[in-house]
Amino acid sequence: MKIELNENKVFLENKGLKKEIHPFWLRERIDGDKYIDQITQQRLFDPTELKNNIKIDKLNLSDNFLEVTFNDGTYNKFSIENILKEFLNDSYNQNVGKVKWDSSFKISNNFNFEKNIFEKKSMYEALIHFYKYGFVIFKKVPTENNFVVNFANSIGSVRRTNFGEFFNVKSKPNPNDLAYTSLPLAPHTDNPYRNPVPCIQLLHCIENEVTGGLSTIVDGYNVSESLKKDYPEYYKILTETKVRFQFIDRSVILENWSEMIELDQNGNFKQVRFSPRLDFVPLIDKEKLELFYSARKKISELYNSDKFRVEFKLIPGDLIMMDNHRLLHGRTRYDANEGNRFLQGCYIDYDSTEGKLKHLKRELNI
Ligand SMILES: [Fe+2]
Repeated sequence: MKIELNENKVFLENKGLKKEIHPFWLRERIDGDKYIDQITQQRLFDPTELKNNIKIDKLNLSDNFLEVTFNDGTYNKFSIENILKEFLNDSYNQNVGKVKWDSSFKISNNFNFEKNIFEKKSMYEALIHFYKYGFVIFKKVPTENNFVVNFANSIGSVRRTNFGEFFNVKSKPNPNDLAYTSLPLAPHTDNPYRNPVPCIQLLHCIENEVTGGLSTIVDGYNVSESLKKDYPEYYKILTETKVRFQFIDRSVILENWSEMIELDQNGNFKQVRFSPRLDFVPLIDKEKLELFYSARKKISELYNSDKFRVEFKLIPGDLIMMDNHRLLHGRTRYDANEGNRFLQGCYIDYDSTEGKLKHLKRELNI
């Protein structure tokens, strides 16, 4: 990919394809002190107030820079690298390739909590791990009450819900959710009834004295790709049928309609939602429903199967950060009489992890 000039026009050449860069596109990217705040990179001018017929009067191209004089009298020396970056659509979650995993996955690459970890290279590496595998585990995180909120706010900002800023996972009397019992929890995604669905869940183990209560995680991305390959009809109906996910308690009714496997505009994996106690399929044709029910049964079998499920024990000080749009999580049954099992959790959104990753890349010059 490179920049080429022809008369007073600038072209971007990419794999034999040549496209002209609109002069206005360059004009609104003028980046001198007079035009851009050097810290926030926000414009100090309003481009909608510029005349539309911006043209280029003079051009000069060297190895690293493009000098442009525009017909409104402005001049700028552009970094070629910065121009090319814009065409690469530089987004981390796109660039860090997802790595699929199943039950053979060995959870070994953990990150020890340390002072100021949020500004260190280990945090950068942890976030890369998170984008690759959809989760990351931090060890030796102080087991102080509410520390998970500090942790989340040091990466980005807690996403508050009607459960509050954070939630306690331990068995309690008269629970409003199965999470607050000692019953097993089959693999599920959290809060599919919210709009938008919280992106990332943090779970911090404060106490775990029981022998059961193992944590389970499943790579929903791997399962949906496997369904696509082995049961294309099931995959199709689960990617096409919007179902209603709902949550009702005394103070709120939450609803969100979506497919169980949601695809992006290119037909690629975007998000899974799975919580079969909360999903309501609309009254569509009987034949379609027949297929839908078989497909839901199959994907449930896959999510719950030994082939895809990883089980492990969280010990006090462990903090797992999971992509709630990709991973399913659950736990095995435990006996509350054996002792305490106490986790605290909260949510953050993707802007937190992406923002932190980009910040660390800039600060550490990676
Ligand atoms: Fe959950």
